[in-house]
Amino acid sequence: METVSVNQAKIIIIQGDITRQKTEAIVNAANSSLLGGGGVDGAIHRAGGPAILEECKAYVAKYGRLPTGQAMITTGGNLLAKYVIHTVGPIYSKTKAQAQELRNCYLNSLKLAAEKGLKSIAFPSISTGAYRYPLDEAAPIAIKAVKDFLKEKTSIEEVDFILFNDETYEAYVNAAR
Ligand code: APR
Repeated sequence: METVSVNQAKIIIIQGDITRQKTEAIVNAANSSLLGGGGVDGAIHRAGGPAILEECKAYVAKYGRLPTGQAMITTGGNLLAKYVIHTVGPIYSKTKAQAQELRNCYLNSLKLAAEKGLKSIAFPSISTGAYRYPLDEAAPIAIKAVKDFLKEKTSIEEVDFILFNDETYEAYVNAAR
């Protein structure tokens, strides 16, 4: 575990399973349909139960598919977390806009949590699985986005990165140093 302080807040980097975290919100690396999938998306829907998918379907029926870089919030269902914030990462294809889109996933998720007055939120490594974003590019973008957000006044006191394997954990620890 690695901890970095930014103003009154902390960034904590942990190797683990995001569905078991006790933060008020956990973030899901979803796709635009919000209908679930594999990876962390599948794990969160499995652990959180059908209430989450119901709210995702209602959202899409009302607002349409969630664009890349945007975020929306649902109940946490059966999870320890009260809320799940779903965001859609970029599918890696070397365009310049992708770094900004990936950065927006973190900033828009944090904005939603702060609007709710939440104190704690946990992120997975967005886009570095099925969406094939290289870890050595994604981790610094993620860490910098969170540090930049925490420089402003906010209700958020703790941002956790929950990483599922050694390689991903090391990439985020290195990016945070
Ligand atoms: N807890 C934390 N991290 C996890 C977990 C978990 N339970 N399960 C997987 N991960 C990690 C993966 O190891 C990877 O490092 O989450 C990271 C993101 O990988 P993906 O889940 O594949 O997400 P992403 O690359 O953003 O691709 C999203 O995959 O599952 C589908 O519906 C999803 O279409 C979307 C796409």
